[in-house]
Amino acid sequence: MSAQFPHARPRRLRRDPALRRMVAGTRLHPADLILPLFVKEGIDEPRPVASMPGVVQHTRDSVRKAAHEAAEAGVGGVILFGIPAVKDARGSAADDPDGVLQVALRDVTAEVGGSIVVMADTCLDEFTDNGHCGLLTESGDIDNDATLERYASTAVAQARAGAQVVAPSGMMDGQVGAIRAALDGAGFADVPILAYSVKYASAFYGPFRDAAECAPQFGDRSTHQQDPAGSVREALREVRLDLAEGADAVMVKPAMAYLDVIAAVRAEADVPVAAYQVSGEYSMIEAAAANGWIDRDRMIMESLVSIKRAGADLILTYWATEVARKL
Ligand code: PBG
Repeated sequence: MSAQFPHARPRRLRRDPALRRMVAGTRLHPADLILPLFVKEGIDEPRPVASMPGVVQHTRDSVRKAAHEAAEAGVGGVILFGIPAVKDARGSAADDPDGVLQVALRDVTAEVGGSIVVMADTCLDEFTDNGHCGLLTESGDIDNDATLERYASTAVAQARAGAQVVAPSGMMDGQVGAIRAALDGAGFADVPILAYSVKYASAFYGPFRDAAECAPQFGDRSTHQQDPAGSVREALREVRLDLAEGADAVMVKPAMAYLDVIAAVRAEADVPVAAYQVSGEYSMIEAAAANGWIDRDRMIMESLVSIKRAGADLILTYWATEVARKL
């Protein structure tokens, strides 16, 4: 009897680049990408973020330029974070009409509004002197319900300044509902909410806290952000609550260590799912590449494709403009 040759040969479809390209099941598109941008009040030159090579804290001028470059590259959106010159316990600059983030939203919207989606991160941690995401009680706990009013007022200030989408990231219970009601009441029923629904208390945010100058001065975020060891069911409960409160899109954060969660959320939610490739994911790859240990460009693409394949429709990534240019 002749030798048994395999009948099924998966390698047939891998034989050449054109074939591989045609059958690829996962495609990145520039419009899937969202670029986070940091703008710092009162600086004249962009300031490099030491722990995130290639990322800067922008000036009022340079943030407009960065948004313009992203739009030219076809990036889907930008999400702005503000770092105020003065911080206090209430995070007063967060909803000040002349606060750093509102000024940047007006500038960026004037520059590129209509050609790229301009979004605002809605939280207090960049604005509070203690680095926490909300108002504190005397014992130092976050006062959930008092914080909701601050988020509501901040989201309205952001919408007034031109934010086309607001993205609450503080993980307070009821934040989506409170913001929806406030936006509707202020005449912004058309402003969508991209909810950071599933957000873990992650070590992968380390470099961001340099970039946004928002490391908690004491304690941590583990009483509100999810435990990395929590169940997927817990994540889905957060998603269902946010959808019931009116979220228009939901986010999972971080991305690469939580691809199972992204896949589960994709199956559960009938709205767009975003995933945030966070600062630590960025810096790990940049640092390894700087040491000559990995192929930087291939690793960036592979990381993004894996997030897309897991089910994310949108990816927040600090490489958005660079990658969009290559696609
Ligand atoms: C909170 C916020 C954080 C990030 C985005 N929004 C930090 C935190 O929760 O501590 C992290 C983003 C990143 O690490 O790239 N405003």
